[in-house]
Amino acid sequence: MSQYFLCNRHDIPNYQARGFDIETPDGKLELFAVRLDDEVHAYQNQCPHLGIALNWQPDEFMSLEGTHIQCSTHGALFTLEQGHCVAGPCSGQSLNSLTIELRNNDELWLKL
Ligand code: FES
Repeated sequence: MSQYFLCNRHDIPNYQARGFDIETPDGKLELFAVRLDDEVHAYQNQCPHLGIALNWQPDEFMSLEGTHIQCSTHGALFTLEQGHCVAGPCSGQSLNSLTIELRNNDELWLKL
């Protein structure tokens, strides 16, 4: 198992997201992490509709209201906690969720 330090939890504003590019032995992995109070959820940055990145600006993954993750290409909406698509062309599909470990009460580590 490989582990990669992402950032500190407090570096992600509450109910917002931050994107990361990680170099792995299998190539570059694009992902983002969403903070919900003390919880952090991470997903591969790939829309299930066309397989492209969700954001068109760095760290811009959220809907205007901040209630969902939103794809910038065709507007699909995903739940924050499960990455489940609830509206849009990939409705019923999900983002690829990734495992995050919290260490020392603030450090976010990606486990692959
Ligand atoms: S590429 Fe994401 S909704 Fe179409």
